[in-house]
Amino acid sequence: MTKVFEARPSVSRTLSPLVSLSSYHHLCYPGTDPNAAPLLLLHGTGGTERDLLPLARTLAPGAAVLSPRGDVSEHGALRFFARLAEGRFDPAEVTRRTHALADFIAAACTHYGLDPTRLTAVGFSNGANIAATLLQFHPAVLGGAVLLRSMVVLDQPATSASLSDKRVLLLNGTADPIVPLDHPPRLAALLRAGGAEVTQQMVKASHGLIAADLIAAKSWLSP
Ligand code: MLT
Repeated sequence: MTKVFEARPSVSRTLSPLVSLSSYHHLCYPGTDPNAAPLLLLHGTGGTERDLLPLARTLAPGAAVLSPRGDVSEHGALRFFARLAEGRFDPAEVTRRTHALADFIAAACTHYGLDPTRLTAVGFSNGANIAATLLQFHPAVLGGAVLLRSMVVLDQPATSASLSDKRVLLLNGTADPIVPLDHPPRLAALLRAGGAEVTQQMVKASHGLIAADLIAAKSWLSP
């Protein structure tokens, strides 16, 4: 991939599009395959904007890639929103961070010429969780999502029919010590309530990804 842009965040935060664009350190790579949906990569706790680049190359080699870095530090481990404890979240914090990321995505799509109706989030763990809250609160900024090891962060259905044109793949592990087993079907139900076409699949894995995740995600991305 040839990098077109790497930006560092600006200090101030307002809603102006240019400031929104610079509010997240991020990478953007152009696509070489016009048929491939652009990917929004959202890393897990302790990751960076580079973590999921090899995954993106495997899943959709010619796709354009937008990859922001989480802007919240948990003792040095970067995330997309703060948490009260593992699996415990503050709705106000999650909502505020989701709005900020949605502003960034909208500004980045305009700036880099990415089609938001085709933009597909590929999120892992905390990144999958904020991808899910983006779908719940800001469906217009995404065309669909691959949620890897996501859980229910906000027990709130998406606005009715707001997800009617979205496809979502949920991949969870049967032996994940972080994501309770009832969460994937609950999250699937919340997204379906908004009209999304949701595929929910379990793999024999823990919280980490295995080959079966890649195979399922790749075939879902190019059916
Ligand atoms: C994580 O470790 O990041 C959790 O699984 C998810 C979260 O806290 O958002």
